[in-house]
Amino acid sequence: MAPDNPRPVILDVDTGVDDALAIALACRLPELEVIGVTTVAGNVDQRQATENTRRVLHFLGAIDVPVAPGMTGPLVRPHQDARAYHGPNGLGGFELPPSPGRMVGAHAPEFIIQAAREHQGELDMICLAPLTNLAVALRLEPELPRFLHRVVVMGGAFTVPGNITPYAEFNIWVDPEAAAIVARSELPVTFVGLDVTTRVRFTREQWERCRGLDHAEARLIAGISTWAFEHRQVDSYALHDPLCVAALAVPSVVGLDQAAVTVDTGLWNTVGETRLLRGDGARPEHLIALDVDVERFTVLFSETLGLPLA
Ligand code: BDR
Ligand code: CA
Repeated sequence: MAPDNPRPVILDVDTGVDDALAIALACRLPELEVIGVTTVAGNVDQRQATENTRRVLHFLGAIDVPVAPGMTGPLVRPHQDARAYHGPNGLGGFELPPSPGRMVGAHAPEFIIQAAREHQGELDMICLAPLTNLAVALRLEPELPRFLHRVVVMGGAFTVPGNITPYAEFNIWVDPEAAAIVARSELPVTFVGLDVTTRVRFTREQWERCRGLDHAEARLIAGISTWAFEHRQVDSYALHDPLCVAALAVPSVVGLDQAAVTVDTGLWNTVGETRLLRGDGARPEHLIALDVDVERFTVLFSETLGLPLA
């Protein structure tokens, strides 16, 4: 049964194959109302992330969702992208038609602050990219933690190795200073890292079955997955960003722990490493997803997007 009052939410993205699927899931879940999407440099540069986001929204018929472009690079370090993983245009080389939709005038951090003030205490954010936009918003509006209801962050590798280095997860590694600002803040953050996101996967079998379907969601996932299954020749890939959307809409999909999160911002090979500090008292504590109900997520993802289960 659809909930009476969907939760207002902003997605912060670097679209990206799994970001595109997260956008689709968020737009289709009855628990959520996507009031805006902000973009940032991450998997691809900010311009490409913005273009991809607009095209994905348009393809899904969600043309009214405003898109606010944000930071064009990390706070301190040079930007390093993940095109090798996500394909030359970030969407596995899949070409979506251009979007005629209007863009928001506001810059992403400003858009986040304005929306948080308007929806005081009710707005959630799902951050699926380097945390540059949110860190800047925090610097511009130190009261932001009072205005936001919850922030779900795709980031970190707490009990497992990283995916960009043996120590670090990509989103945190790209802008560790921004991640450290967010982790040290009083924002009500839920970290959803590789500990759980690598366990929920889209498989080659599902992809092959999607290719016979003709609705927008199936065509999107079939098109953007070609890079993974034909070029990278993997048998499955992780649905990192969609799991974060599910974790906000249906919190019991993940099992949560409580601890303070620290981020390595040094100059050595451990940069971007995320660690858990328990019982420290001096630092704000956050929620960290260390368990996931894989079956529940798979059903939710597949049913919501009209895709085959396996
Ligand atoms: C994260 O990095 C990006 O490549 C994905 O879109 C996801 O947000 C996983 O480490
Ligand atoms: Ca992402």
